[in-house]
Amino acid sequence: MKTTTRLLFVCLGNICRSPAAEGVMRHIVEREGFDDRIECDSAGTYDGHAGELPDARMRRAAAARGYNLTHHSRLIHVGDFDCFDMILAMDDSNYERVHRMAPSLEAAAKIHRMTSFCRSHPGADHIPDPYYEGAAGFERVLDLLEDACTGLFDEIRR
Ligand code: 4NP
Repeated sequence: MKTTTRLLFVCLGNICRSPAAEGVMRHIVEREGFDDRIECDSAGTYDGHAGELPDARMRRAAAARGYNLTHHSRLIHVGDFDCFDMILAMDDSNYERVHRMAPSLEAAAKIHRMTSFCRSHPGADHIPDPYYEGAAGFERVLDLLEDACTGLFDEIRR
């Protein structure tokens, strides 16, 4: 029986980092022919942008690398701990907020830091919030996410 691994990427607003992580991961999963075994979604810990497409700056930077971001922002909720196998937090603040929501130790064990899967950015300990940054901030997010998603995919495939 084939098992499906369900991934939930989480940031603050769910309009920059986590929908980009979802798009990068989905691209890798489809390219490697794993789309029937790995599912991707994303959510935010803040609902101020609920229902919105990703930030236009993030969509533009992602599109230039071949990623089409179509997710609509949504708030994370406690039921997500049942639906997903791994919850990937972009920074410590997201990690701590999601941790406080976890209904059990088993649920808390599903939460990981996204940068823990980076291989070519060994010093990276968070995906920096690009919202108040210039174009370079969005490129940095994509550089880190491409690295982390590759590491995450390799980990799941093993
Ligand atoms: P994200 O970026 O958490 O990567 O989606 C942000 C989006 C919105 C805000 C902050 C960060 N905001 O303050 O509205």
